[in-house]
Amino acid sequence: MIRLGVLASGGGTNLQALLDACAARSVDAEVALVISNVSGAGALARAERAGVPSRLLPSRGVERATYDAQLVEALRAARVDLVCLAGYMRLLSPVFLDAFGPAAGTRGCPRVMNIHPGLLPAFPGLKAQAQCLEYGARFAGCTVHFVDQGVDTGPIVAQAVVPVLPGDDDATLAARILAEEHRLYPRAVGWFAAGRLSVEGRRVRVEGAGAPQRGISNPTD
Ligand code: GRF
Repeated sequence: MIRLGVLASGGGTNLQALLDACAARSVDAEVALVISNVSGAGALARAERAGVPSRLLPSRGVERATYDAQLVEALRAARVDLVCLAGYMRLLSPVFLDAFGPAAGTRGCPRVMNIHPGLLPAFPGLKAQAQCLEYGARFAGCTVHFVDQGVDTGPIVAQAVVPVLPGDDDATLAARILAEEHRLYPRAVGWFAAGRLSVEGRRVRVEGAGAPQRGISNPTD
């Protein structure tokens, strides 16, 4: 069973999906530590409710490398194998990414994952759903990817697609995407936990995955 560290700045519904999947044993992992940089973040309350260790580590006014060194220390102390960003609204510095780069046994996989509410490489960065609507794209979705130093540029693990419907606004589209996020993120983490992921260059291989169907890139569990 691997140990997850989750970084979250907001409401934490993706954290909740991970907590639920771990509790249901559909993912062979446990959430060892939740850290938020935002006081009062819903994610902290969710961790507490689940009986999982959590920490508020305020980031305001703290220089990035200094802050990231504190994060690394806390995550290492919790013996975290994989860091999951779940609505974590800060970029990570090389201090952090070097500390959680590929390791023995991860088959080239970095040890930091993120979920993004857009079909990368389209619409990276903030407000992906609004960017998508503004652009007039007909499909939207979400992407689980490993994290590198760019903004949402790391190797893609899995994607799920949803339609953009007539009459959608930012909120309705975000809700449709979020439902897929909650399905996709635990599955991708489960693959990592099971040692099924490997990275070569930009391409992520999912061992035993079937052909894409119904808008999901790697349908087989
Ligand atoms: C999600 O849409 C996620 O894709 C993005 O931030 C949002 C976080 O939502 N990175 P929540 O805090 O998990 O509810």
